[in-house]
Amino acid sequence: MQEWVALVGSLREASYNRALFQVFRDIAPHDVTWTEASIGSLPFYNPDLEPPKQARQFWDLMRRADALVCFTPEYNGSIPAVIKNALDWASRDPIGSSIAGKPSVVLGASQGLFGTLRSQLHLRQILTFMDADLVQKPEVLISEAHVKLEPRGQLNDLVAQRLMTMLAENLYARVGGRISV
Ligand SMILES: Cc1cc2nc3c(=O)[nH]c(=O)nc-3n(C[C@H](O)[C@H](O)[C@H](O)COP(=O)(O)O)c2cc1C
Repeated sequence: MQEWVALVGSLREASYNRALFQVFRDIAPHDVTWTEASIGSLPFYNPDLEPPKQARQFWDLMRRADALVCFTPEYNGSIPAVIKNALDWASRDPIGSSIAGKPSVVLGASQGLFGTLRSQLHLRQILTFMDADLVQKPEVLISEAHVKLEPRGQLNDLVAQRLMTMLAENLYARVGGRISV
């Protein structure tokens, strides 16, 4: 059994990135358990503050996680602040960064034609800086998300579905599992 943690970089109820999370969850190997981290409840990182309960819970979750799965929208050509803030918290776990060495993947959906290309490049750069064990391929960029994704988690794009299956298998193998067929 592997435990995967999802970071969804949108706080919007009808988020396409959360819908993409549902699709990936359905596609991923069956013996994976999932938790979505409540990154919207984390305050802005401030080293002067005594770490609040939300941060301590987030650290526990991230330490425990076998893998990290990030779903990022694109905001003004980069990642939303809520994801960066969560990663900054993760890097300041008193026991040590929970990102370093963590098998991780990045996916994203946007309504534009570039499908989170710029935000994924930035997020991959940040995760690489943090020494995450990034599974880079295949890349999953969902453009025109309003056409391809249903809010309840249906993706009308067979190629993207296939790429997501491959990415999930690659991540599962990176953690150390074998897919049983
Ligand atoms: C502040 C802001 C900035 C945005 N900037 C971009 C952008 O640079 N590129 C892009 O493709 N879409 C941009 N968008 C559109 C988002 O990709 C679109 O709203 C997407 O649906 C957000 O993801 P979500 O559905 O998961 O909330 C922006 C949206 C917001 C709110």
